[in-house]
Amino acid sequence: MGDRARSAVSASAPASRRRGRAPTSSRARRQYARAASSYDRRLATRVVAPVQRRAIDRLELRRGHTVLDVACGTGLNFAGIRAAIGAEGCLIGIDLTADMLAVARGRVESHGWRNVQLIEGNVEEASIPMPVDAALFSFSHDVLRSPAAVARVVEAVKPGGRVVACGSKWGPWWALPVNAVLAVTSLPYTTTFEGFREPWSLLARSVAEGGVESLALGSMYVFSGTTR
Ligand SMILES: C[S@@+](CC[C@H](N)C(=O)[O-])C[C@H]1O[C@@H](n2cnc3c(N)ncnc32)[C@H](O)[C@@H]1O
Repeated sequence: MGDRARSAVSASAPASRRRGRAPTSSRARRQYARAASSYDRRLATRVVAPVQRRAIDRLELRRGHTVLDVACGTGLNFAGIRAAIGAEGCLIGIDLTADMLAVARGRVESHGWRNVQLIEGNVEEASIPMPVDAALFSFSHDVLRSPAAVARVVEAVKPGGRVVACGSKWGPWWALPVNAVLAVTSLPYTTTFEGFREPWSLLARSVAEGGVESLALGSMYVFSGTTR
C-alpha cells in the first residue's frame, strides 16, 4: 500500500481496525449478525460475483469432489460449487456467524441440495471433516490473516488439492481513489487491514505452485495453489 493510501485508511478507520491488528472474531460476529439480512442484496456483494466465479474456476473441481467453503457466509458460492461437483460431491460450509449461516441454510433448503453440510464456528477451532479435495476462501480477509485458521484449512486438504482465495486488496500507489473507496467499503467486512496488500501471503507459504491474478485495477485478487 502506498503512503497516501495508508493515510486514507488511518484517517477513516477506528484505531482498532488499523493496520497491524489481528482479526477479532467477536467483532466479526457482531458485524455479520447485523449484515446478514441484507448481505446478498448489497451492491458491494453483487459487484464481486465475477471474481467469485473465477475463484471457483480455479478450484478445478470435478464431479464427486468434496469442497470446503471457508467462511461461507450466506452461501453465495454454493451454486457455482454445486454445479461443478454435482449431487455426488460434498460441500462443507463453515462460518462463525449464525445469522449468515441461517441465510445459507435457507438457500440450501430452497434448492433442495442434500449434499451440503453447514458448520457454525471459528475456523481456528471448528472440527473440520477431512480430507477434502479443495478449499475456497472467498472474501474472508479475517480468516486469511489468522495463521491458525490457514494452517487448519490447508491441513484438511488432500496432498495435491487446490486451495483458492479471492477478495479485495490494496491497489498500487497510483490507484489512490480506488484505495480510498476500498477503505470505506471494506470496513463492514473486515476487522483488520493487516496484510491487505497481499492477503494471500500466509496461504502462499503453505501451498506449492501459488499464483496470483490481479483484477479491477489491482483492487481484487484471485490466489490459487496446490497443497504439498
Ligand atoms: C465477507 S463475508 C464472505 C462470505 C462468503 N465467503 C462470500 O464470498 O460471500 C465473510 C464471512 O467470514 C465469516 N468469518 C469471519 N471470521 C471468521 C472465522 N474466524 N471463522 C469462520 N468464519 C469467519 C463471517 O461470519 C462472514 O460470514
